[in-house]
Amino acid sequence: MFEKHIFICNNERDPFANRDSCGSEGNQIRVELARLIHEYGVRGKVRANKCGCLDACELGPVVVIYPQNIWYGNVKTEDAEEIFKQSIQQNQIVQRLLIKPDDWENRK
Ligand code: FES
Repeated sequence: MFEKHIFICNNERDPFANRDSCGSEGNQIRVELARLIHEYGVRGKVRANKCGCLDACELGPVVVIYPQNIWYGNVKTEDAEEIFKQSIQQNQIVQRLLIKPDDWENRK
């Protein structure tokens, strides 16, 4: 079992769909997190998985970290290193990326 499991939405909808999607940016975020996992030698302890829609599409790209149950929104590839250092290595929260309860309730 992994100590920390990161799920990165890379669901991509058609341009004419009526909801946003995390799409290719989500995939780039996952690749960068996987690179950091490798670079810092935590493979087997930490895993970065692509995943489908997490129902927070309007707040995306979305990254979720378990077991802490941290939900980040509007994540950019350049945020991946800060997420890794703060939330994976130090068990801290990157407040500026955290999806707040009001954001969640108003996402549709
Ligand atoms: S498409 Fe990423 S949360 Fe829905």
